[in-house]
Amino acid sequence: MNVTRDLFDDVMVPNYNPAAIIPVKGLGSRLWDQAGTEFIDFAGGIAVNVLGHCHPELVKTLQEQSERVWHLSNVLTNEPALRLAKKLTQATFAEKVYFANSGAEANEAALKLARRYAVDKFGAEKNQIIAFNQGFHGRTFFTVTVGGQAAYSDGFGPKPSAIDHIDYNDLSALETLISDKTCAVMMEPIQGEGGVVSPETEFVKGVRALCDKHNALLIFDEVQSGMGRTGDLYAYMGLDVVPDILTTAKSLGGGFPIAAMLTTTSIAEHLKIGTHGSTYGGNPLGCAVAEKVLDIVNTSEVLEGVKHKETLFRTGLEKINTQYQCFSDIRGKGLLLGAVLNEQYAGRSRDFLVAAAAENLMCLVAGANVVRFAPSLVISDEDILEGLSRFELAISKVVSS
Ligand SMILES: Cc1ncc(COP(=O)(O)O)c(C=O)c1O
Repeated sequence: MNVTRDLFDDVMVPNYNPAAIIPVKGLGSRLWDQAGTEFIDFAGGIAVNVLGHCHPELVKTLQEQSERVWHLSNVLTNEPALRLAKKLTQATFAEKVYFANSGAEANEAALKLARRYAVDKFGAEKNQIIAFNQGFHGRTFFTVTVGGQAAYSDGFGPKPSAIDHIDYNDLSALETLISDKTCAVMMEPIQGEGGVVSPETEFVKGVRALCDKHNALLIFDEVQSGMGRTGDLYAYMGLDVVPDILTTAKSLGGGFPIAAMLTTTSIAEHLKIGTHGSTYGGNPLGCAVAEKVLDIVNTSEVLEGVKHKETLFRTGLEKINTQYQCFSDIRGKGLLLGAVLNEQYAGRSRDFLVAAAAENLMCLVAGANVVRFAPSLVISDEDILEGLSRFELAISKVVSS
Protein backbone atom coordinates (compact mmCIF):
# COMPACT_ATOMS: atom_id res chain seq x y z
CA MET A 1 0.00 0.00 0.00
CA ASN A 2 1.25 3.48 -0.87
CA VAL A 3 1.04 5.30 2.45
CA THR A 4 1.22 9.04 1.90
CA ARG A 5 -0.12 12.18 3.56
CA ASP A 6 -2.88 12.22 0.90
CA LEU A 7 -4.22 8.98 2.35
CA PHE A 8 -4.95 10.88 5.56
CA ASP A 9 -7.42 13.12 3.74
CA ASP A 10 -8.99 10.07 2.09
CA VAL A 11 -9.58 7.93 5.17
CA MET A 12 -9.31 10.00 8.35
CA VAL A 13 -11.95 12.12 10.06
CA PRO A 14 -10.87 15.67 9.22
CA ASN A 15 -10.43 16.96 12.78
CA TYR A 16 -6.62 17.13 12.43
CA ASN A 17 -4.37 18.66 9.83
CA PRO A 18 -1.02 16.86 10.24
CA ALA A 19 2.20 18.02 8.58
CA ALA A 20 3.16 16.79 5.11
CA ILE A 21 5.91 14.42 6.29
CA ILE A 22 5.29 11.04 7.94
CA PRO A 23 7.93 10.04 10.52
CA VAL A 24 8.80 6.35 10.44
CA LYS A 25 11.64 6.07 12.97
CA GLY A 26 12.75 7.83 16.12
CA LEU A 27 15.80 7.54 18.33
CA GLY A 28 16.51 9.84 21.24
CA SER A 29 15.64 13.36 20.09
CA ARG A 30 15.95 12.61 16.38
CA LEU A 31 13.20 11.51 13.98
CA TRP A 32 13.37 10.29 10.37
CA ASP A 33 10.61 10.56 7.79
CA GLN A 34 9.73 8.20 4.92
CA ALA A 35 12.37 9.81 2.70
CA GLY A 36 15.07 9.34 5.35
CA THR A 37 15.21 13.05 6.20
CA GLU A 38 16.34 13.55 9.80
CA PHE A 39 14.67 16.00 12.21
CA ILE A 40 15.55 17.26 15.67
CA ASP A 41 12.57 16.92 17.97
CA PHE A 42 11.85 19.86 20.29
CA ALA A 43 8.14 18.91 20.34
CA GLY A 44 8.34 15.53 22.05
CA GLY A 45 4.94 14.41 20.77
CA ILE A 46 3.41 17.43 22.58
CA ALA A 47 5.32 17.07 25.85
CA VAL A 48 5.01 13.28 25.92
CA ASN A 49 8.29 11.63 24.86
CA VAL A 50 9.97 12.46 28.14
CA LEU A 51 12.88 10.08 27.52
CA GLY A 52 13.02 10.63 23.78
CA HIS A 53 12.13 8.05 21.15
CA CYS A 54 12.78 4.33 21.66
CA HIS A 55 14.68 4.73 24.94
CA PRO A 56 16.42 1.33 25.30
CA GLU A 57 15.16 0.76 28.87
CA LEU A 58 11.57 1.48 27.85
CA VAL A 59 11.84 -0.74 24.78
CA LYS A 60 13.18 -3.55 26.97
CA THR A 61 10.45 -3.09 29.60
CA LEU A 62 7.69 -3.07 26.98
CA GLN A 63 9.10 -6.15 25.25
CA GLU A 64 9.38 -8.04 28.54
CA GLN A 65 5.86 -7.13 29.64
CA SER A 66 4.49 -7.98 26.18
CA GLU A 67 5.63 -11.56 26.75
CA ARG A 68 3.91 -11.78 30.15
CA VAL A 69 0.40 -10.33 30.04
CA TRP A 70 -1.12 -7.54 27.91
CA HIS A 71 -4.54 -6.92 29.29
CA LEU A 72 -6.74 -8.12 32.12
CA SER A 73 -9.36 -5.35 32.68
CA ASN A 74 -10.19 -4.20 36.19
CA VAL A 75 -11.96 -7.40 37.08
CA LEU A 76 -8.40 -8.45 37.95
CA THR A 77 -5.57 -6.29 39.18
CA ASN A 78 -1.99 -6.64 37.95
CA GLU A 79 1.54 -6.33 39.30
CA PRO A 80 2.78 -3.41 37.17
CA ALA A 81 -0.29 -1.31 38.14
CA LEU A 82 0.18 -1.98 41.84
CA ARG A 83 3.93 -1.29 41.72
CA LEU A 84 3.39 1.94 39.80
CA ALA A 85 0.63 3.09 42.16
CA LYS A 86 2.83 2.38 45.17
CA LYS A 87 5.72 4.34 43.67
CA LEU A 88 3.48 7.29 42.74
CA THR A 89 2.18 7.48 46.29
CA GLN A 90 5.71 7.27 47.68
CA ALA A 91 6.88 10.08 45.41
CA THR A 92 3.96 12.51 45.94
CA PHE A 93 1.38 13.80 48.46
CA ALA A 94 -1.07 11.15 47.24
CA GLU A 95 -2.27 8.05 49.03
CA LYS A 96 -4.52 6.65 46.31
CA VAL A 97 -4.28 6.28 42.53
CA TYR A 98 -6.82 5.82 39.73
CA PHE A 99 -5.48 4.86 36.30
CA ALA A 100 -6.86 6.09 32.98
CA ASN A 101 -5.67 6.19 29.37
CA SER A 102 -5.41 9.90 28.56
CA GLY A 103 -5.17 13.28 30.21
CA ALA A 104 -8.80 14.04 29.49
CA GLU A 105 -9.91 10.81 31.16
CA ALA A 106 -7.83 11.46 34.26
CA ASN A 107 -9.38 14.93 34.44
CA GLU A 108 -12.87 13.54 33.87
CA ALA A 109 -12.28 11.25 36.86
CA ALA A 110 -10.98 14.17 38.94
CA LEU A 111 -14.01 16.32 38.17
CA LYS A 112 -16.48 13.53 38.84
CA LEU A 113 -14.72 12.71 42.10
CA ALA A 114 -14.79 16.36 43.20
CA ARG A 115 -18.53 16.60 42.47
CA ARG A 116 -19.24 13.30 44.21
CA TYR A 117 -17.17 14.25 47.26
CA ALA A 118 -18.99 17.58 47.59
CA VAL A 119 -22.46 16.08 47.09
CA ASP A 120 -21.76 13.29 49.63
CA LYS A 121 -20.26 15.57 52.25
CA PHE A 122 -22.05 18.88 51.86
CA GLY A 123 -25.15 18.28 49.68
CA ALA A 124 -26.25 18.69 46.08
CA GLU A 125 -26.00 22.50 46.12
CA LYS A 126 -22.22 22.37 46.35
CA ASN A 127 -21.44 21.76 42.70
CA GLN A 128 -19.74 24.82 41.23
CA ILE A 129 -16.45 24.22 39.43
CA ILE A 130 -14.18 27.21 38.90
CA ALA A 131 -11.52 27.08 36.20
CA PHE A 132 -9.43 29.53 34.21
CA ASN A 133 -9.63 31.27 30.86
CA GLN A 134 -7.19 29.75 28.36
CA GLY A 135 -6.88 26.63 30.52
CA PHE A 136 -6.91 23.27 28.74
CA HIS A 137 -8.04 20.02 30.30
CA GLY A 138 -8.88 17.70 27.39
CA ARG A 139 -11.66 17.04 24.90
CA THR A 140 -14.33 15.02 26.69
CA PHE A 141 -17.43 17.17 27.01
CA PHE A 142 -16.94 17.77 30.74
CA THR A 143 -13.21 18.56 30.48
CA VAL A 144 -13.54 20.72 27.39
CA THR A 145 -16.26 22.73 29.11
CA VAL A 146 -14.07 23.19 32.17
CA GLY A 147 -11.30 24.26 29.78
CA GLY A 148 -11.11 27.98 29.22
CA GLN A 149 -11.79 28.29 25.50
CA ALA A 150 -15.51 28.25 24.80
CA ALA A 151 -14.81 27.78 21.08
CA TYR A 152 -13.74 24.19 21.82
CA SER A 153 -16.96 23.30 23.65
CA ASP A 154 -19.45 25.32 21.56
CA GLY A 155 -21.58 23.60 18.96
CA PHE A 156 -22.20 20.28 20.69
CA GLY A 157 -25.53 21.01 22.31
CA PRO A 158 -26.17 21.60 26.02
CA LYS A 159 -22.99 21.73 28.09
CA PRO A 160 -22.34 20.41 31.57
CA SER A 161 -23.36 23.22 33.92
CA ALA A 162 -22.18 25.02 37.08
CA ILE A 163 -18.78 25.73 35.55
CA ASP A 164 -17.34 29.27 35.74
CA HIS A 165 -14.16 30.81 34.40
CA ILE A 166 -11.93 33.64 35.52
CA ASP A 167 -8.53 34.93 34.43
CA TYR A 168 -5.42 33.02 35.47
CA ASN A 169 -3.38 34.88 38.08
CA ASP A 170 -6.41 37.00 39.06
CA LEU A 171 -6.81 36.21 42.74
CA SER A 172 -9.36 38.92 43.43
CA ALA A 173 -11.64 37.50 40.71
CA LEU A 174 -11.49 34.15 42.48
CA GLU A 175 -12.16 35.78 45.83
CA THR A 176 -15.32 37.35 44.37
CA LEU A 177 -16.57 34.19 42.66
CA ILE A 178 -15.76 31.40 45.11
CA SER A 179 -18.32 30.52 47.78
CA ASP A 180 -19.48 27.61 49.88
CA LYS A 181 -21.22 26.36 46.72
CA THR A 182 -17.86 25.82 45.04
CA CYS A 183 -16.87 22.17 44.99
CA ALA A 184 -13.54 22.52 43.17
CA VAL A 185 -11.06 24.85 41.55
CA MET A 186 -9.21 23.26 38.65
CA MET A 187 -5.99 24.73 37.31
CA GLU A 188 -2.79 23.91 35.50
CA PRO A 189 0.25 24.84 37.60
CA ILE A 190 1.65 26.15 34.31
CA GLN A 191 -0.84 26.80 31.52
CA GLY A 192 0.58 24.82 28.59
CA GLU A 193 -1.76 25.07 25.61
CA GLY A 194 -2.85 28.52 26.82
CA GLY A 195 0.58 30.03 26.11
CA VAL A 196 3.06 28.61 28.67
CA VAL A 197 1.94 30.89 31.50
CA SER A 198 3.29 30.41 35.03
CA PRO A 199 1.26 31.23 38.12
CA GLU A 200 2.44 33.98 40.44
CA THR A 201 3.42 32.58 43.85
CA GLU A 202 0.90 34.74 45.69
CA PHE A 203 -1.83 33.64 43.30
CA VAL A 204 -1.33 29.92 43.72
CA LYS A 205 -1.01 30.22 47.50
CA GLY A 206 -4.12 32.38 47.52
CA VAL A 207 -6.05 29.79 45.49
CA ARG A 208 -5.12 27.13 48.05
CA ALA A 209 -6.21 29.35 50.95
CA LEU A 210 -9.55 30.21 49.32
CA CYS A 211 -10.24 26.53 48.58
CA ASP A 212 -9.55 25.72 52.23
CA LYS A 213 -11.82 28.53 53.41
CA HIS A 214 -14.74 27.27 51.32
CA ASN A 215 -14.16 23.50 51.59
CA ALA A 216 -13.46 23.33 47.88
CA LEU A 217 -11.02 20.82 46.44
CA LEU A 218 -7.98 22.10 44.57
CA ILE A 219 -7.33 20.06 41.42
CA PHE A 220 -3.97 20.47 39.72
CA ASP A 221 -3.98 19.34 36.12
CA GLU A 222 -0.35 18.27 35.72
CA VAL A 223 -0.98 16.43 32.47
CA GLN A 224 1.53 18.68 30.72
CA SER A 225 3.61 20.04 33.63
CA GLY A 226 4.09 16.71 35.39
CA MET A 227 6.70 13.96 35.58
CA GLY A 228 9.86 16.02 35.61
CA ARG A 229 9.05 18.53 32.90
CA THR A 230 9.60 21.57 35.15
CA GLY A 231 12.67 20.11 36.89
CA ASP A 232 10.54 18.95 39.82
CA LEU A 233 8.80 15.58 39.61
CA TYR A 234 5.52 17.53 39.69
CA ALA A 235 5.23 21.30 39.33
CA TYR A 236 3.36 21.61 42.65
CA MET A 237 6.59 20.64 44.39
CA GLY A 238 8.23 23.83 43.17
CA LEU A 239 5.27 25.98 44.17
CA ASP A 240 5.03 25.03 47.81
CA VAL A 241 1.32 24.31 47.41
CA VAL A 242 -0.19 20.83 47.68
CA PRO A 243 -3.36 20.05 45.69
CA ASP A 244 -6.12 17.69 46.80
CA ILE A 245 -6.27 15.94 43.45
CA LEU A 246 -3.57 15.80 40.78
CA THR A 247 -3.82 14.44 37.27
CA THR A 248 -0.86 13.19 35.27
CA ALA A 249 -0.55 11.77 31.74
CA LYS A 250 1.62 12.69 28.74
CA SER A 251 5.16 12.16 30.17
CA LEU A 252 3.92 9.47 32.55
CA GLY A 253 4.05 6.82 29.83
CA GLY A 254 6.89 8.38 27.85
CA GLY A 255 4.79 7.75 24.72
CA PHE A 256 2.69 4.81 25.86
CA PRO A 257 -0.90 5.98 26.51
CA ILE A 258 -1.50 6.02 30.26
CA ALA A 259 -2.76 8.57 32.77
CA ALA A 260 -3.45 8.71 36.47
CA MET A 261 -5.43 10.66 39.01
CA LEU A 262 -3.78 10.98 42.40
CA THR A 263 -5.51 11.94 45.64
CA THR A 264 -5.79 11.31 49.35
CA THR A 265 -7.55 8.40 51.04
CA SER A 266 -10.32 10.53 52.53
CA ILE A 267 -11.23 12.01 49.15
CA ALA A 268 -10.72 8.78 47.19
CA GLU A 269 -13.21 6.88 49.33
CA HIS A 270 -16.04 8.76 47.61
CA LEU A 271 -15.41 6.88 44.35
CA LYS A 272 -16.99 3.71 45.67
CA ILE A 273 -17.28 0.45 43.76
CA GLY A 274 -19.20 1.00 40.56
CA THR A 275 -19.10 4.81 40.57
CA HIS A 276 -16.46 5.15 37.85
CA GLY A 277 -14.24 2.96 35.69
CA SER A 278 -12.37 2.18 32.51
CA THR A 279 -11.70 -1.07 30.64
CA TYR A 280 -8.09 -0.21 29.81
CA GLY A 281 -7.24 1.90 32.87
CA GLY A 282 -4.24 0.34 34.63
CA ASN A 283 -3.35 -1.79 31.61
CA PRO A 284 -0.21 -3.84 32.43
CA LEU A 285 1.73 -2.72 29.34
CA GLY A 286 1.17 0.97 30.11
CA CYS A 287 1.85 0.57 33.82
CA ALA A 288 5.07 -1.40 33.24
CA VAL A 289 6.38 1.33 30.94
CA ALA A 290 5.28 4.14 33.27
CA GLU A 291 6.94 2.47 36.22
CA LYS A 292 10.21 2.47 34.30
CA VAL A 293 9.70 6.10 33.23
CA LEU A 294 9.14 7.08 36.85
CA ASP A 295 12.22 5.15 38.01
CA ILE A 296 14.37 6.98 35.48
CA VAL A 297 12.86 10.47 35.69
CA ASN A 298 12.61 10.63 39.48
CA THR A 299 16.36 10.84 39.94
CA SER A 300 18.50 13.87 40.66
CA GLU A 301 20.46 13.12 37.50
CA VAL A 302 17.44 13.68 35.24
CA LEU A 303 15.73 16.41 37.30
CA GLU A 304 18.93 18.44 37.75
CA GLY A 305 19.65 17.85 34.08
CA VAL A 306 16.34 19.54 33.20
CA LYS A 307 17.47 22.70 35.02
CA HIS A 308 20.79 22.70 33.16
CA LYS A 309 19.06 22.16 29.82
CA GLU A 310 16.59 24.97 30.56
CA THR A 311 19.57 27.33 30.95
CA LEU A 312 21.02 26.12 27.67
CA PHE A 313 17.69 26.76 25.90
CA ARG A 314 17.16 30.18 27.48
CA THR A 315 20.71 31.34 26.74
CA GLY A 316 20.40 30.18 23.13
CA LEU A 317 16.97 31.76 22.61
CA GLU A 318 18.08 35.03 24.18
CA LYS A 319 21.12 35.12 21.93
CA ILE A 320 18.92 34.55 18.87
CA ASN A 321 16.66 37.33 20.08
CA THR A 322 19.52 39.78 20.47
CA GLN A 323 20.07 39.43 16.75
CA TYR A 324 16.51 39.09 15.41
CA GLN A 325 14.37 40.94 18.01
CA CYS A 326 11.28 38.80 17.60
CA PHE A 327 10.47 37.73 21.19
CA SER A 328 9.13 39.84 24.02
CA ASP A 329 9.71 37.11 26.61
CA ILE A 330 11.03 33.58 27.10
CA ARG A 331 8.76 32.01 29.71
CA GLY A 332 7.88 28.72 31.35
CA LYS A 333 9.94 26.39 33.49
CA GLY A 334 12.31 23.50 32.96
CA LEU A 335 11.73 22.01 29.54
CA LEU A 336 8.31 23.54 29.03
CA LEU A 337 9.34 26.84 27.50
CA GLY A 338 7.57 29.45 25.39
CA ALA A 339 9.12 32.11 23.19
CA VAL A 340 6.54 34.90 23.12
CA LEU A 341 6.41 36.77 19.81
CA ASN A 342 6.58 40.54 20.09
CA GLU A 343 4.05 42.89 18.49
CA GLN A 344 5.76 42.88 15.12
CA TYR A 345 5.20 39.12 14.77
CA ALA A 346 1.96 38.85 16.74
CA GLY A 347 -0.32 36.06 15.55
CA ARG A 348 2.42 34.38 13.49
CA SER A 349 3.60 31.50 15.70
CA ARG A 350 2.60 29.01 13.00
CA ASP A 351 4.90 30.72 10.48
CA PHE A 352 7.81 30.07 12.86
CA LEU A 353 6.74 26.43 13.29
CA VAL A 354 6.54 25.87 9.53
CA ALA A 355 9.88 27.62 8.95
CA ALA A 356 11.46 25.44 11.67
CA ALA A 357 10.09 22.28 10.05
CA ALA A 358 11.63 23.38 6.76
CA GLU A 359 14.99 23.48 8.60
CA ASN A 360 14.33 19.95 9.94
CA LEU A 361 13.37 21.02 13.43
CA MET A 362 10.10 20.08 15.13
CA CYS A 363 8.67 22.51 17.63
CA LEU A 364 5.20 23.43 18.89
CA VAL A 365 3.01 26.47 19.20
CA ALA A 366 0.89 27.47 22.20
CA GLY A 367 -1.68 29.79 20.67
CA ALA A 368 -0.97 32.30 17.95
CA ASN A 369 1.76 34.21 19.77
CA VAL A 370 3.96 31.60 21.42
CA VAL A 371 6.45 29.10 19.98
CA ARG A 372 6.64 26.26 22.50
CA PHE A 373 9.41 23.78 23.26
CA ALA A 374 8.75 20.53 25.15
CA PRO A 375 11.58 18.17 24.21
CA SER A 376 12.77 14.99 25.87
CA LEU A 377 14.14 15.62 29.37
CA VAL A 378 17.28 13.73 28.42
CA ILE A 379 17.92 15.48 25.10
CA SER A 380 21.66 15.86 24.66
CA ASP A 381 23.28 19.29 24.89
CA GLU A 382 24.53 18.69 21.37
CA ASP A 383 20.97 18.19 20.05
CA ILE A 384 19.79 21.32 21.87
CA LEU A 385 22.54 23.42 20.28
CA GLU A 386 22.00 21.91 16.83
CA GLY A 387 18.23 22.42 17.15
CA LEU A 388 18.69 26.03 18.21
CA SER A 389 20.95 26.74 15.27
CA ARG A 390 18.25 25.29 12.95
CA PHE A 391 15.72 27.48 14.75
CA GLU A 392 17.91 30.53 14.19
CA LEU A 393 18.05 29.75 10.47
CA ALA A 394 14.26 29.43 10.43
CA ILE A 395 13.88 32.78 12.19
CA SER A 396 16.24 34.48 9.76
CA LYS A 397 13.91 33.37 6.96
CA VAL A 398 10.70 34.46 8.74
CA VAL A 399 12.05 37.92 9.57
CA SER A 400 13.30 38.49 6.03
CA SER A 401 10.09 37.24 4.37
C1 LIG B 1 -2.95 20.42 30.81
C2 LIG B 1 -3.60 19.39 29.93
N1 LIG B 1 -4.63 18.69 30.41
C3 LIG B 1 -5.24 17.75 29.67
C4 LIG B 1 -4.84 17.49 28.38
C5 LIG B 1 -5.55 16.43 27.58
O1 LIG B 1 -4.77 15.30 27.51
P1 LIG B 1 -5.14 14.13 26.46
O2 LIG B 1 -4.97 14.74 25.10
O3 LIG B 1 -4.17 13.04 26.75
O4 LIG B 1 -6.54 13.76 26.71
C6 LIG B 1 -3.77 18.20 27.84
C7 LIG B 1 -3.34 17.96 26.45
O5 LIG B 1 -2.70 18.76 25.83
C8 LIG B 1 -3.13 19.18 28.63
O6 LIG B 1 -2.10 19.90 28.16
